[in-house]
Amino acid sequence: MICPLHGPILTENLSYFLEKYNDWSSYRADKKGVLVLSASIYGNTDKAACYLAQCIRENGIPVKHMTLAGADLSYAVAEAFRYETVVFACATYDGGLFPCMENLLYRLTSKNFQNKKIGLVENGSWAPMAAGKMKAELEKLSLMEFVGQTVTIKGAVQEEDKEKLKELAQNIKTISVE
Ligand SMILES: Cc1cc2nc3c(=O)[nH]c(=O)nc-3n(C[C@H](O)[C@H](O)[C@H](O)COP(=O)(O)O)c2cc1C
Repeated sequence: MICPLHGPILTENLSYFLEKYNDWSSYRADKKGVLVLSASIYGNTDKAACYLAQCIRENGIPVKHMTLAGADLSYAVAEAFRYETVVFACATYDGGLFPCMENLLYRLTSKNFQNKKIGLVENGSWAPMAAGKMKAELEKLSLMEFVGQTVTIKGAVQEEDKEKLKELAQNIKTISVE
């Protein structure tokens, strides 16, 4: 019998729960592939994230894209813990992060998010700062590996941005097949 401090008393399937405990307490990813999380005000960062996800998929890597604005962030938190690679894409907002991304990062860091490969995409019309802010939070955590170059977009996604997103997808493929 397991009597946890929080939650119901468990009397059956104990090996299942112990296995889950081992997975979660060692912060092992249980899904191969990439989670792309985007925080967009007007939709351009979401479009960039969507294009990146398409490139990753075309490279044969499983990928899921979630938009954060207006969403229940608890689903993004849960998925971020499951995937081995997470791309954070965010619009710059008043010299910082669009609040849903700031909120998500707060929730991830407070739950000891760690042991991930990370990609970064930022958007900003005049002084893009989102990637620097996200990196500053993420690099405080354990075992974080940043993949490829940060992609910076200024407003709508241009052809040259697509090339940079393709390159990031390629870098993600390289580390994913290691
Ligand atoms: C309230 C507000 C604050 C912003 N602050 C910044 C900023 O500090 N630096 C910057 O480069 N762009 C800033 N922007 C511009 C957005 O980052 C830019 O429009 C970006 O393309 C938005 O991405 P999205 O289309 O994904 O929403 C701001 C926009 C808004 C609405």
